[in-house]
Amino acid sequence: MAEKILKYLHDNGEASTLKLAELFNEAHQKIIGTLKSIQANGDLVTAEPVSEKNIELTDEGKLVAKEGSHEANLYKAVPESGIAQAELMKFPNAKVGFSKAMSNGWIFVDKAVNPPLVKRKVPNITDLVQDHLKLVDVGKHSELTDKEKAEYKKRKLIQEAVIKSFLLKKGPEFNLSLNKLETDLTADMLTSGNWKNLKFKSYNFDALGAPPTSGFLHPLLKVRAEFRQIFLEMGFSEMPTNNYVESSFWNFDALFQPQQHPARDAHDTFFVSDPQYSNKFPEDYLQRVKTVHSKGGYGSQGYRYDWKLKEAQKNLLRTHTTAVSARMLYKAAQEKEFKPLKLFSIDKVFRNETLDATHLAEFHQVEGVIADYGLTLGDLIGVFAEFFKKLGITELEFKPAYNPYTEPSMEIFCFHPGLGKWIEIGNSGVFRPEMLRPMGIPEGVTVIAWGLSLERPTMIKYGFNNIRDLVGPKVDLEMVQKSPICRLNK
Ligand code: PHE
Repeated sequence: MAEKILKYLHDNGEASTLKLAELFNEAHQKIIGTLKSIQANGDLVTAEPVSEKNIELTDEGKLVAKEGSHEANLYKAVPESGIAQAELMKFPNAKVGFSKAMSNGWIFVDKAVNPPLVKRKVPNITDLVQDHLKLVDVGKHSELTDKEKAEYKKRKLIQEAVIKSFLLKKGPEFNLSLNKLETDLTADMLTSGNWKNLKFKSYNFDALGAPPTSGFLHPLLKVRAEFRQIFLEMGFSEMPTNNYVESSFWNFDALFQPQQHPARDAHDTFFVSDPQYSNKFPEDYLQRVKTVHSKGGYGSQGYRYDWKLKEAQKNLLRTHTTAVSARMLYKAAQEKEFKPLKLFSIDKVFRNETLDATHLAEFHQVEGVIADYGLTLGDLIGVFAEFFKKLGITELEFKPAYNPYTEPSMEIFCFHPGLGKWIEIGNSGVFRPEMLRPMGIPEGVTVIAWGLSLERPTMIKYGFNNIRDLVGPKVDLEMVQKSPICRLNK
């Protein structure tokens, strides 16, 4: 196209871009685009901007050009024998059509009959308006008189438009073809000095940059990083949670959860069939766990039932990360001297739940554990105040709750300003002596702990109502790409 334009200029000296569009049967915009690339090659042509007034049809004008004027259509709707005016007025655009047809002298109202009838006054008509608009449509508006144009403009059948185009002439560097422009300055060009003779392509600073391809962090990972940061700031260390499969022993028995507890049912827990059982447990500790369940001890009467090893050996997908906390506390208790601990974990847990908008069979748990001499419920509440403040949550309330392994236990509620209500965000408590003493945690040491899900705060922060929009096969990958790297709503 560029060469066609240059050739035309060579033969004719000058050309308007509009004329070129017509000649080459291309959209005007395409000619303008080609002009830009010619200009990018140097001063091959000069382009002088021209604005011309043009007249074009309005949407209504286009309709009239195609289907006839309102007055002509109304005239055609009047039968030989006449028609009641009220009837005629139901016709589309009848109001304009009627008054124009009357003033054209095409129809009249016969008042001799009752009710009066509209009748044709002339046997046939010529639809000049349609003919004129057809001319405008093909660019021949100059064949209309100024009066006609004014009339159609008033009737909103035509309108003025400004067409911007360019008048092209040969430029000082005129050539019949585009030079191949250099895009890179090379060492060769510099040493030979040839760069002086070459033409370089100019930079296009308006070009849109290409977005770099990269991975994106899922919102859950971003919120996990925030929680991790908070724990680290508060002096906690992370527990190793890299085992999804756990034995019932560490998931339940070590936590003083009786073997007949409903959570240990296949309805609530995913049991693993291969390998179905675990075999290695610290033997003396296992015996103490058995005793505390079946007979009691440490001031407790236990549950008084026949504790079975087989039940404790059953493998499962861990239902909470508290199983890992139990392992870590047991490990700490085996040290020569007990040292205070602050531990946390954020990892996946599994529950055989009925799936709905807010529940999945797997989710992440955020868990904090502090072990020290003489800790109380007051310490737990104080730690929460600090922990949740760092999350931007300052209004907390607690409700007594029950866990087999904590006493007292508290559900944690926070006020959500966006939702305008109190919502449950976590569960907590002071671990029972029946859990700690068999491990060997010394008398006088208390362990306070809490757990919450990672999904719930993430849904709140990112405004999801359905967990399936956040996790699982229906997740929109664009959501992952577009979710902000940081949020300033703390
Ligand atoms: N394990 C509890 C849960 O799954 C959370 C929790 C952790 C409660 C620690 C008390 C102490 O909900």
